[in-house]
Formats: sequence, structure tokens, C-alpha cells
Amino acid sequence: MKNFKKLALMGLTAVMSLSLLAGCGGGNAGNAETPSGNSNTPSVESNTPAATGEFTTVEEGKLHMSTNAAFPPYEMTTDDGGFEGIDVEVAQAIAEKLGLELVVDDMGFDAALTAVQTGQSDIAMAGITVTDERLEVMDFSDSYATGVQVVIVKEDSPIQTIDDLANADMIGCQTATTGYIYCSDTPENGGYGEDHVTAYENGALAVMALVNGQVDAVVIDNEPAKSFVAQNEGLKILDTEFAVEDYAIAFAKGNTALKDAVNTALSELIADGTVQSIVDKYITAE
Ligand code: ARG
Repeated sequence: MKNFKKLALMGLTAVMSLSLLAGCGGGNAGNAETPSGNSNTPSVESNTPAATGEFTTVEEGKLHMSTNAAFPPYEMTTDDGGFEGIDVEVAQAIAEKLGLELVVDDMGFDAALTAVQTGQSDIAMAGITVTDERLEVMDFSDSYATGVQVVIVKEDSPIQTIDDLANADMIGCQTATTGYIYCSDTPENGGYGEDHVTAYENGALAVMALVNGQVDAVVIDNEPAKSFVAQNEGLKILDTEFAVEDYAIAFAKGNTALKDAVNTALSELIADGTVQSIVDKYITAE
């Protein structure tokens, strides 16, 4: 097993006690369009940002979430052009608590990270792993899920353990992800060198390259891996885990007011079981 340590969740400040505005009375607003100022919006003056009176959002009354909706079961598109998944529903529940309407902005994974750093979106939520490098350029909420980097190979592959990965001619990863970052690192740092890694726009394309024999293995997060393996014949996930990580919601660096409000909402949604019930809807326990 590779010696990637568990990535510690760092830099999380204590949740401040905020005068949180109660959400509406139990109605399920779903994805319905909720024009600002309707009954789902807490009764604050329309120009006052919700919940803390401190944060502002890109667009008044809305919570823009940048994501890469090609990462099942965290975020994916629906047949009718909408979005679903664990991140989408947790963000929806957070937005409701803050009296905001969730708007999902779908783009490449690296673009989703850039969008939140540059203030194009309010939050980025995309199964994003907290890393020291990312903490230098963005802030993170408390963690809401654990991700594990795993290795997908063909069933008859000579690569049967993580150690065998060193013999792979080519490893496929998704652009800008931790899987790519680890694998493309130098061998001294536990990687395989850039020459042995190909970055694909999304995980499905990396898996297609594996099926077609263009790469020998794919390193990607475990839940998307399960989904891609289920969709393709003849693939399997190696038993050993490559790295264990924490997922969190990203904010622009210094956007503490929004981060605090989101952390408060998130901790309530964890405490009352909402987050777990969303996870259970998308991930069946083995
Ligand atoms: N957890 C990995 C990372 O943060 C991969 C996330 C990819 N997410 C996505 N929606 N494509 O780098």
C-alpha cells in the first residue's frame, strides 16, 4: 500500500454561534424556482443577506454552486437537463436554511475550483478533497463525507495490487483531481511521474480509455469508481485503498461570513440526519 497519509482536515475554525434564521415550515421546496421575497425567504429586508446579516452572494437571493456534474453519485445530470446527487441535495438543503435559491453551475472540475476562488460562484461542491495546497488558495467548510482514491483495472490485468501500479505504462485520471496530483508526482514522492499519467476531462472518459486499452489503470474516488465499474463490463476495483480523504465545501479565501453560515447549516443537517438520509438515497450500504 502506498504511504499516502490520511489527509488531515485542516484549518477548520470552530463554528461560530450565529443567529440562524429558521427555514420555512417543513415544506419541501425541491428545485422549484423560488423568486426572492417569497414565503420561503426568511423575513429580512430584501437587501440584507440571509442568516448572518454579514455575507453577500454573487447574485442576490441565490447560492451559486460551481461543480463538475460528471461525478456520480455526488453530482450528475438528469435526463431532463437538471442536476442530482449527494452534493446537489446537501447544497439544496443548505440553501434552504439560508433562505437562498440554489443555482448549479456545471463546468470542468478545475474550472469549478477556479470559479469559487475568483468569486464567480459562492461555493464549489464537487466531492472536493481538502488538501494543504488548496487551503492556500481557498477556504473549506467542515467535512461532510470521506472519499477514498481507488484503482480501477481490467479484471484480467497484471496490476493486482497498488504496488503493481509502478509497472503501469499509463494511468488515467481526471484533470486537476487529487488522483492526478498524486499519480503524476515524482517516484520519490510516491507518484509515477507525469509521463505515466494521462489526464481526462472527466472520470467516465478515463474509464473509457481503460476499456479501450489506452491506459492500464484509472485512479479515482471510490464512489464514482463503483458507478463506472457497474456501467462497464470486465472492470474491477483493487482491494487496497490508495488514499483516504475528506470532502468539504469550498469558498473564496477569506469568505468567512458565508463559510460560517454554511457550517452552521451543515452541522444542523448532519445532526438531524438529513445528510445521512441523502447519502443513503444514493449509496446503498454493502
Ligand atoms: N476528490 C477529488 C479531488 O478533490 C476528485 C473530485 C472530482 N469531482 C468532480 N465533481 N469531478 O480532487
